[in-house]
Amino acid sequence: MAPIHIDEKAGSDATGQGSPDQPYETLAFALFTHQASSPQYLIRKDPTGTYEEPTQSALKKAKKGADGLEKKRKKAEEAAAKEAQADREEKERREKLLADSKKIVLKEDETLPKATRAKLAHLKSLRSKRIRVFGWIHRLRPQKDIIFLVLRDGTGYLQAVLSGHVSQTYQALTLTRESSVELVGTLQAVPEGKDAPNGHELIVDFWQVVGAAPGAEDAFTNRLNEKSDPSIQADLRHLVLRGETASSVLRLRAALLSAFRDTFATHSVLEVTPPCLVQTQVEGGATLFKLDYYGQPAFLTQSSQLYLETCLPSLGDVFCVQESFRAENSHTRRHLSEYTHLEAELAFINFDDLMSHIEAIICETVDRLLKDETASSLIKQLNPDFQAPARPFLRLSYVDAIKWLNDHGIKHEAEDADGNVIKDEREQVKMVEHAIGDDIAEAAERQMTDIIGTPVFLYGFPVELKAFYMKKMPSDGKGGPVYTESCDLLMPNVGEIVGGSMRIPDMEELLAAYKREGIDDAPYYWFTDQRKYGTCEHGGYGLGVERFLAWLANRYTVRECSLYPRWPGRATP
Ligand code: 4AD
Repeated sequence: MAPIHIDEKAGSDATGQGSPDQPYETLAFALFTHQASSPQYLIRKDPTGTYEEPTQSALKKAKKGADGLEKKRKKAEEAAAKEAQADREEKERREKLLADSKKIVLKEDETLPKATRAKLAHLKSLRSKRIRVFGWIHRLRPQKDIIFLVLRDGTGYLQAVLSGHVSQTYQALTLTRESSVELVGTLQAVPEGKDAPNGHELIVDFWQVVGAAPGAEDAFTNRLNEKSDPSIQADLRHLVLRGETASSVLRLRAALLSAFRDTFATHSVLEVTPPCLVQTQVEGGATLFKLDYYGQPAFLTQSSQLYLETCLPSLGDVFCVQESFRAENSHTRRHLSEYTHLEAELAFINFDDLMSHIEAIICETVDRLLKDETASSLIKQLNPDFQAPARPFLRLSYVDAIKWLNDHGIKHEAEDADGNVIKDEREQVKMVEHAIGDDIAEAAERQMTDIIGTPVFLYGFPVELKAFYMKKMPSDGKGGPVYTESCDLLMPNVGEIVGGSMRIPDMEELLAAYKREGIDDAPYYWFTDQRKYGTCEHGGYGLGVERFLAWLANRYTVRECSLYPRWPGRATP
């Protein structure tokens, strides 16, 4: 039999084998492991020494250690056996409980007062009454003879208590989170000092499962939890939406759209619903989703602006809430391929009127939300530090913004004539100062809004940077840059949330603009007619609803602000 090796420095009791290249660390452990077969032991202090037989006194001491280890092992063995026994008993108890539970049949007691059916948001007036509610198990805390749960029905949450035979049925013992249920019972205010949603709880006297959710492997919490990878969260957006934060964001989104509609009504701006399938571009061909429309080329709309313009003579000032589509390969936290676009168009106004109107609509809508109990509590939950922005908003011309960026040392990536980023010898991107004519990129814009910390109107962008339809400012007459009556509204943390402008009112000038941009004017005949039959000074804007919501609810990305967000490569679920 091979001798057993111990190296008191380099050996290991946990991983050692007793061989010369994998020695143990202690003689005690070697004895404990091998004493039954009485091998020869060889020990050394460290790898520089040589292996020798241990002295008698060392062996004696190690024997004591080995006895200690044996005692420990026995104890562990006994404990494991006890645990296994307890497990067996628990399993038997549970099996018996389950078998017994099948005999308990819950029946609704017809002698009790009739239950009023209600949604969870409207229970306050039903306290101390019997109610019937339907929903999903949001939280579940089974205890020995009592089950606490939180029900969710989309309008709110309700704590419920199941006790006595109500908590002993087979359905009660096998209840899982996200199962749908019907609960009937008496609504009671919770005692002072106890916490429950809306201050009451349901003492259940009858209930049943409507649709059971799986447990074990396939349980809801196994499919999704806070630590789930972002791509899994995206695939399981339908389940994410059941969470408190995601559903609150969407609830606030609904309140926001409703508040915008109310604000527009007070300004006599009428809602219209333009089409999504179009055959004209608004914001440049590069971001168009093209499709085959009965053999003709067509696009998903980038903006409803052109249609809104045509409504002015018949309906007056108009707005719409419509999906817009942008085929840009942008993976930033503020770009979606499909987003909800709130656009408005106003007749007989000037550029100053336009900016004042945008400011008024936004501020009045925010005030409306803060006055509304439900909306303001959602804002408080999602964005506790939110404060309504002060009026008037800062207005900064494009030319002044370029100077501001340079004064604050904010540079942008240098590009060659083909738009490729220029790198130095060390492969570092070259950063350069801003100059008139440069687009203010997202990074610079974000730094600027974060430093300024309040909403800012950037206005007067050069013609070359903007869409064909924008009205020009008077030129300096010396061949200098030509600017447009255009404005972007920037918000802290998000950047641009609104883009707007005055429109070219003159037909000849519009025809020249099509030409300049290489756009065939034929499909635009209806838009051109707008100038032909009674033109007027007019302007409008588009507001990205998800970006506005990201600002209001302090969300990291617009992806959290859309029901089912679409971005490059993602159109599921
Ligand atoms: O600045 P944009 O492109 O302007 C227009 O489409 C005009 N025709 C609107 C008009 O005057 N009626 O877009 C307007 C707003 C942006 O400020 C931004 O908030 C949002 O739409 N937006 C996007 N939101 C999410 N993802 C995208 N890819 C977006 N592109 C624009």
